[in-house]
Amino acid sequence: MERTFVMVKPDGVQRGLVGEVISRLERKGLKIVGLKMMWIQEELAMEHYAEHAEKPFFQSLVDYITSGPVVAMVVEGKDAVKVVRTLVGATNPVEASPGTIRGDFGLDIGRNVVHASDSLKSAEREISLFFDAEELIDYSKSGEEWLY
Ligand code: PPS
Repeated sequence: MERTFVMVKPDGVQRGLVGEVISRLERKGLKIVGLKMMWIQEELAMEHYAEHAEKPFFQSLVDYITSGPVVAMVVEGKDAVKVVRTLVGATNPVEASPGTIRGDFGLDIGRNVVHASDSLKSAEREISLFFDAEELIDYSKSGEEWLY
């Protein structure tokens, strides 16, 4: 089982899409093992997006992600990193396929509703940036491994 980091960004929270995002993850068969609403401070935003520090949009990305509350979560399941990226859709909502979260709810690359880790390595880094170990809950939903 893999774990990945997912965040409903400020535009997603403002537009009331938190439940929709969680519902899509759950319906797919993924399990929420950590969940919190938070207002990201600039220091954490810069660390989270450090790999984009040289990009021209870096400051606007930091300003946007700190502009309002977000909902951060850790999602567990089979191939969770890849599965969540597929559900989320392409970075630019204009190119994201219908049926994906960004394809169904986004228009603007700067406000693309949700963030999801792009690799297992990023997932580990981002989970540890946003969550303490004791905030993640180990539990099983049923005795049967196949019953999502
Ligand atoms: S991704 O999804 O990480 O592979 O996408 P990437 O192209 O590397 O972009 C990294 C994050 O930067 C955001 N982004 C932008 N913000 C504002 N303006 C422009 N032009 C822009 N291009 C990319 C993009 O939404 C990614 O945010 P996250 O939170 O990682 O999805």
